[in-house]
Amino acid sequence: MRKIGILTGGGDAPGLNAVIRAVTVKAIKDGYEVIGFKYGWAGPMKKDYVPLTLADVEDIHRQGGTILGSSRTNPAEVENGLQVVKDNLEQLGLYALVASGGEDTLGVANKLCKIGARVVGVPKTIDNDISATDYTFGFDTAINRVMEALDRLHTTAKSHQRVIVVEIMGRHSGWMALYGGMAGGAHLILVPEVEFSLRQVYDFVNKRYSEGNTYALIALAEGAKCPELIKEVEKEAPRDAFGHILATKVKRPIAQVLAEKIEEATGKETRHAILGHMQRGGDPSAFDRVLGTRLGFKAMEMVEQGEFGKMAALSGEEIVSVPLEEAVGELKLVDRARYELAKAFFG
Ligand code: F6P
Repeated sequence: MRKIGILTGGGDAPGLNAVIRAVTVKAIKDGYEVIGFKYGWAGPMKKDYVPLTLADVEDIHRQGGTILGSSRTNPAEVENGLQVVKDNLEQLGLYALVASGGEDTLGVANKLCKIGARVVGVPKTIDNDISATDYTFGFDTAINRVMEALDRLHTTAKSHQRVIVVEIMGRHSGWMALYGGMAGGAHLILVPEVEFSLRQVYDFVNKRYSEGNTYALIALAEGAKCPELIKEVEKEAPRDAFGHILATKVKRPIAQVLAEKIEEATGKETRHAILGHMQRGGDPSAFDRVLGTRLGFKAMEMVEQGEFGKMAALSGEEIVSVPLEEAVGELKLVDRARYELAKAFFG
């Protein structure tokens, strides 16, 4: 009986369990044995896994997170790490591996395929910034959390005539700040793709109040680019195994620094709110449960059809397979036209 493995790597995202369930159900029904590696790429590195049965995955698509656990382990940064993973997959008698993750996890999958491993990818990130797929599961759930938070912040900011700067996840891309901010009625949205100055923010705040408004909500992506702020925020910032700054672990988060500067410069009472991992936790939306299921099912079809070095992806309404090379080259960033549409509603 052929055996396949599955792993979930990088930041968790609502919808991962739907992927695990779909791959496992399709595989078992097609006569395969399934094992689930624990904690991302650490699993294959250490041969740390659990068998997966239909009973193990029943209904898990309704739960957030990943029953296998995740990590940011990077085999490519360990001497001979990729070969160790490839050898371990072979020693475990695995025909193929399905890896669900973001640009880092899929980048490792792509490197493994280049040395002969049989891997299929499933794109995952709440940031929605993986190329070659229209959406990633986790994003819809996360922007609903952002919207709910902003809905709440309107009432308290208005009650106290305050500016509130809301820090939203998205270290390199602004999709969550943009769509979550639009949905939640943020009065200004700042994303990594469009650099801004402090003066622009001060002018926005002063103009909004001068027009008779008594509060303002600013949706700020954690990776937003403001040269005057960055030197304060990123000094001695901790980084993960892939070199990314851990925005939620910097000494002075960007939202806090910006809030202090707004209050200093405009005299308007200002607070900050960091949504952090509340954007990733909790159960998936219907959209993410269905998308995760469809992608996982397609990934197993790709295993059966020998489509390795590729990932399942959403193209319009269809689930297709695309080369991992196209997905991991560069991130899918907010385009200017999309930002300009949101900008029409600022103020
Ligand atoms: O990649 C998804 C993400 O949630 C980013 O938006 C965020 O910057 C990062 O993960 C946080 O990483 P960690 O959970 O390792 O702190």
